[in-house]
Parts: sequence; structure tokens; C-alpha cells
Amino acid sequence: MLEVKDLRYRYPDGHEALRGVTFRVNDGEKVALVGANGSGKSTLLLLIAGALEVKEGGITFGGKAANVGLTFQDADDELLMPSVLEDVAFSLVAGGMSVSKAHERAVRMLESLGIAHLAQRPPHRLSGGEKRIVSFAGVLVREPEILALDEPSAGLDPRARRRVINFLRETERTILLATHDLDMALDICTRAVILSDGVVAAEGKLPDLFTDREILEANGLELPLRYAML
Ligand SMILES: Nc1ncnc2c1ncn2[C@@H]1O[C@H](COP(=O)(O)OP(=O)(O)OP(=O)(O)O)[C@@H](O)[C@H]1O
Ligand SMILES: [Mg+2]
Repeated sequence: MLEVKDLRYRYPDGHEALRGVTFRVNDGEKVALVGANGSGKSTLLLLIAGALEVKEGGITFGGKAANVGLTFQDADDELLMPSVLEDVAFSLVAGGMSVSKAHERAVRMLESLGIAHLAQRPPHRLSGGEKRIVSFAGVLVREPEILALDEPSAGLDPRARRRVINFLRETERTILLATHDLDMALDICTRAVILSDGVVAAEGKLPDLFTDREILEANGLELPLRYAML
């Protein structure tokens, strides 16, 4: 279980990005984190993943050690190795797995995301969408208990987006999905938390919450495409 309580965060320049955020995610639950640009989604994921230090309020994992895999909003930050295959296998090898076993796992991961053809390419020469899905593979391959995903569909073509959705639907891991892609959130998540200006403005079950035009509009969001067309 992931529990966030009265979480506040102020960046070094004084900007207060989170102003008291409280919510909870049960084991195996898939929760969407939505909200306008600057509402605090990425800051919240960085704190949960331990990439930013919690100073006010708390984040707990039901008494267990944190095991969070974060995919960053900017994939360029993460790709370091000479080939995609080595990059995806890197964390496994660093964690003590043999190179051959790590590569085998990495190949399977690339295959399940439909990007096995990228295995030998240098990551820094990939297209934006290719980089994103490779960095995504590098996090998933470690099988973290909690997946903290920051805009995983941004820049993906429709088929790549669909593969990512299918993968996330099938996994039994806990998911916290920050996204502007409300249709993707509807396909994956059973609940959503709406952030607005650093606080939780609303939360509720899906699809119900995303059919509520008033709540969405009050928080800078719009109806998902599948409802907007009705
Ligand atoms: N390094 C930083 N220093 C100062 N302020 C920051 C920093 N990073 C983000 N902020 C501010 O904190 C607030 C929350 O930013 P955050 O990146 O968490 O928003 P977000 O919900 O992820 O937005 P987006 O939808 O654009 O990704 C914004 O007002 C932003 O300007
Ligand atoms: Mg963000």
C-alpha cells in the first residue's frame, strides 16, 4: 500500500508545488493522476520514487521498503548505454544478474513492447517516441512493485501507445499513472486523483469521474474523446 499524507513540497527557488496532498493506493490498484500543466503531478511522482527528498508530510509503503520504478517525463535523462539492449539490461546487471540472463530478460521486454528491432541501436540517436518507449522498457524490466509513470504515452504512435496500454492493463503491479491522456487512463485505471495547484481537487472511480464535465472543467481538464464525441 502507498500512503501519501499531508505532503508539501517547495522547490529551492521558493515555488510551492505541493500544498498538502493526501491519498492512498492499495496494492495492485491502478490509479490515474491527472491535472493541468503545473498542477504538481511530476513533483508528486519524483517524491514517491525518492528522486526528491520529502521534507513536509509523509509517504509510506505499508511498512515495507519502497520499491518504485519511475519513468521520467523527459526520457533523455535516462538513456546512458551504447545500445538499447544494454540500456534496458543495465539495472538488472547492476543489481547482480548475469549479463546473459539480463539480456534475455531485456530481449523479452523489448519484444513485448514491439521494439525488438531497436535492440542494437544507440539510444541517444533514437526518435523521441522510440526513446520514451525504451526508457519505459528499462523500468518495467526490473519489475518494481509500484510503477510511477510520468506521461508514458506522450509522443508515442497509436500502435506503440496501444502496446503500452495493453502491457499496463495486464500487469498486476500497482500503477500510478500521471497523464493528460484521459482515454489511456480510462483503459488502464480504476480510479483517478485530480490535482489542481498542488492539492487534490477531486478523486473518484473511473469511468464516472471522467464523465463529470463540471469537475473536469473546474480543474482545467476536458472530457475524454470517447465521451466528447457522444
Ligand atoms: N525545478 C523546479 N523549480 C521550481 N519550480 C518548479 C520546478 N519544477 C517544477 N516546478 C513548478 O512546480 C509546479 C508543479 O510542477 P510539476 O512539474 O510537478 O507539474 P505537472 O503537473 O507535472 O505539469 P505538466 O502537466 O506540465 O507535466 C509548477 O508550477 C512548476 O512550475
Ligand atoms: Mg509533469
